[in-house]
Amino acid sequence: MQHEALIVGAGGAGLWAALELAKAGVDAAVLTKLYPTRSHTGAAQGGVCAALGNQEEDHWEWHMFDTIKGGDYLVDQDAAEILAREAIETVIELEHMGLPFNRTPDGKIDQRRFGGHTRNFGEGPVRRACYAVDRTGHMILQTLYQQCIKFGVKFYDEYHVVDLLSDGGELGSGGRAAGVVAYRIADGELHTIRSKAVMLATGGFGRMFRVTSNAWSLTGDGIALAYRHGIPMQDMEFYQFHPTGIVGIGILLSEAARGEGGTLLNDAGERFMERYAPTLMELAPRDMVSRAIYQEIRAGRGIGGKDYVYLDVRHLGRAVIEEKLADITEFARVYQGVEPITQPVPTQPTAHYAMGGIPTDTDSRVTRDEHGTVVPGLYAAGEAACVSVHGANRLGTNSLVDLLVFGRRAGRRMAADVGGWAIPGVPDDAADPSRGELERIRSAPRREQAARIKTDLANVMMDNVGVYRDEGLLMTARDTVRTLRERYRDVSIDDKGRTFNTDLLEAHELGYLLDCAETTVASALARRESRGAHAREDYRGRDDVNFLAHSLAYRGEGGPRLRYKPVTITQFQPKPRTY
Ligand code: FUM
Repeated sequence: MQHEALIVGAGGAGLWAALELAKAGVDAAVLTKLYPTRSHTGAAQGGVCAALGNQEEDHWEWHMFDTIKGGDYLVDQDAAEILAREAIETVIELEHMGLPFNRTPDGKIDQRRFGGHTRNFGEGPVRRACYAVDRTGHMILQTLYQQCIKFGVKFYDEYHVVDLLSDGGELGSGGRAAGVVAYRIADGELHTIRSKAVMLATGGFGRMFRVTSNAWSLTGDGIALAYRHGIPMQDMEFYQFHPTGIVGIGILLSEAARGEGGTLLNDAGERFMERYAPTLMELAPRDMVSRAIYQEIRAGRGIGGKDYVYLDVRHLGRAVIEEKLADITEFARVYQGVEPITQPVPTQPTAHYAMGGIPTDTDSRVTRDEHGTVVPGLYAAGEAACVSVHGANRLGTNSLVDLLVFGRRAGRRMAADVGGWAIPGVPDDAADPSRGELERIRSAPRREQAARIKTDLANVMMDNVGVYRDEGLLMTARDTVRTLRERYRDVSIDDKGRTFNTDLLEAHELGYLLDCAETTVASALARRESRGAHAREDYRGRDDVNFLAHSLAYRGEGGPRLRYKPVTITQFQPKPRTY
């Protein structure tokens, strides 16, 4: 099989890139291990920010500033400028594609408040999040998928990517992307798909944590594959915990609840955010709100002394709750047996979003070193990528903005690039290493079960590499992940068949998660400061002298090797971050 451009992953970034390619007349295909409309973009709830100024004065410069400050100044400011400027046109383009946004009484796109988004460089909250009830990501996904079908994009549904192919050397040392090897889940066949350009849009890796908002499929596939071929993982120590997940299972209770006026209460009924972020209160950035919840719990002020607090929306009234927060209201009813109209909802932080990922430039081209050297033919966008617009902590809604803006840029850049390129050659035996790897798992005698290794991984990552870290916790996590990697060599499965073998699939995905976990721990250990979502109790302050830099974790013999690259600062010099 061959295509001019091949996109791995059918979330918002992948779909918008495919759409741009198809519109430009390029033969584009999307390969996904799910069905496209089950991609995780569909789980994004509360909104997509763009400085439309529909109800209040707003400017893209304010959005840019908030993004940089929210990211604790680790954001590349050239990328943040593009994000904030192009957010406006991408949202309007989506509207023209037919996305059913909520409306103001005079028919404009309605906008709500969201954490860390402010007017006039931090004065107070601003209405910037455009939304469709609390299912904005779902609507984006449906809209883009419809457009892709309309423009003739080819889809390979339920194909799991198992390798990247290159031409003229390894990807990390001068080779060019040449396609992928993919496993067809329906019948266990391996397929080699050649392509002039390959885009990785496979999303994040939240399944490495015990309590997460991430779907089962979020296992870092593209990030790990790039890593295995010599491309570093960037800024992996920065992992976001969303403050409000359903207790124990992590499903999201959207920040939109707080954007609409919901409050967080401790056991004494206090709005405890007053102590931590007196200006923005519950609408402070997520890293701060999650830490505040942990502090309350540690001080014994969790509800009934337990490990959660309350999200209270009762005062918003039935109409707002049912009309603007419909999905999460239903989640609280179904998963917790709580009626948000009359009861406060138990909530706790949940592992939500990877700020780090595959390094790219602002045209979504993958880069492989601190000098920004581009890997020819390889692109990445969305949560799998690190451009870096989120720095050390992403603001709510900016994930959707990121995938729209940089997915679109990826598609445009690929369309411009592939015209001058030929379909690369790949050897006939290109799939053999993958075949060997999958057969090894399939035929291994019953020793180590993937599910057990995954549970142990999720526990150590949650308990030792979560909201708060220190050297002792991280060293234990490093040793545990090493041991898990050794156990993984003996991983075996019960289902030896070829038809819809999800046992094999999960065992294979676990290898990707272990790669992502290893670099997360190594990068967190090396960063001896606290910045954004990386909160070290043994290094409490931000250290711009030594750590105002992006980490790059390369695969090495004895574990990841770390290098650093500078942050791009154009307008906003780092300042203390208060709200
Ligand atoms: O809370 C939310 O609705 C999540 C949004 C996001 O992660 O951007």
